[in-house]
Amino acid sequence: MDTHLVIFQPSGRRGRVEKGKNLLEVSRELGVDIESVCGGQKTCGKCKVRVQEGFFERHGISSHPDHLSPLVDEEEKLLSDDEIAQGYRLACAAEVLGDVLLFVPEESRGGKQVVRKDVTLRKINLNPAVRTYSVKLDKPTPNPRTLKYLKVEMQDITTEDLDLTDDYQKMLSAQPIIIESTLPQLTELPVLTLPIQGQDEFLESSAYIQCTDRKIIDKAREVIGDEKIATNAVARLVAGVYNLLEKNPTASLPSALDVLEMKKGDCNEHAILFTALARAVGIPTKIYVGLVNLDGYAYYYHAWCAVWLGSWVAVDPTFNQFPADVGHLKLKEGEIAEQAVVLKVVGKLQIKMLEYSQ
Ligand code: FES
Repeated sequence: MDTHLVIFQPSGRRGRVEKGKNLLEVSRELGVDIESVCGGQKTCGKCKVRVQEGFFERHGISSHPDHLSPLVDEEEKLLSDDEIAQGYRLACAAEVLGDVLLFVPEESRGGKQVVRKDVTLRKINLNPAVRTYSVKLDKPTPNPRTLKYLKVEMQDITTEDLDLTDDYQKMLSAQPIIIESTLPQLTELPVLTLPIQGQDEFLESSAYIQCTDRKIIDKAREVIGDEKIATNAVARLVAGVYNLLEKNPTASLPSALDVLEMKKGDCNEHAILFTALARAVGIPTKIYVGLVNLDGYAYYYHAWCAVWLGSWVAVDPTFNQFPADVGHLKLKEGEIAEQAVVLKVVGKLQIKMLEYSQ
């Protein structure tokens, strides 16, 4: 196996790693905690590291920018010209091709750098209002985006106040809490046209979801064009919200109209704007809050949506997913305010991976 030496500063963690691995994977292998709000999707820009160039006698390493794979488009978008000139890379995009010495700037550090041998809970100080929490897994699982089925056990919590089931997420047992998630097959859904009939409660306007406001209706129409087939319209809206909003953690809980105005936000803003736009064109939509397994290593607090297409199908406008992958673990439905319940649970929860399949 072709391996290369990688050293992270300032922690000094080092190790020989397989050629071709990206630096985010390598950082995890070596116990270096780098922020990854988007879970390595190359959309958040939080995982910046700087390549040190030269021969570093003290570390016995010759490090060069060419020892990483070439810059990709996403890095050109998310890094400034100055940063690129200084040797900054996105850890999730840069792959190891040779020996490298890297500096992890303060802003990219996820917290205390430790090697995790057990499942532990850790608070990440990304944003005090959203209070991102994670539940680490003891051993990595394959990327949940490629899975069709996932079964987990949720430990140290009760089912009280939680909404753990829907059409594709089933609770197999309440004690212990065993949850299985299956990826919906879009081709098996009925062909519905807009506006969708029924589920009227999920077409209503609220203080945060102003789906009857002119600006929201106009935007929704602009995004879906003359599309009348519900699944196609949902796909356009998911991609539309994903492309419209800059990925940026925010410290408040704005309404859909505010989000449309600001054009940026984290998962809460994506979920609330998507819900308003979808309801505006007659797609019953609700908000889910819970956890998402971003990268096979940990579950993070997250908000996403579900649309009524003859069954409730989860969609994730933050990650441009229709349907949302099986790494999404819904804990509560309603509005974003339900996150309070979720955060209380996440403070205690342990998750054990039981089964998965491609
Ligand atoms: S983890 Fe989000 S851009 Fe790298």
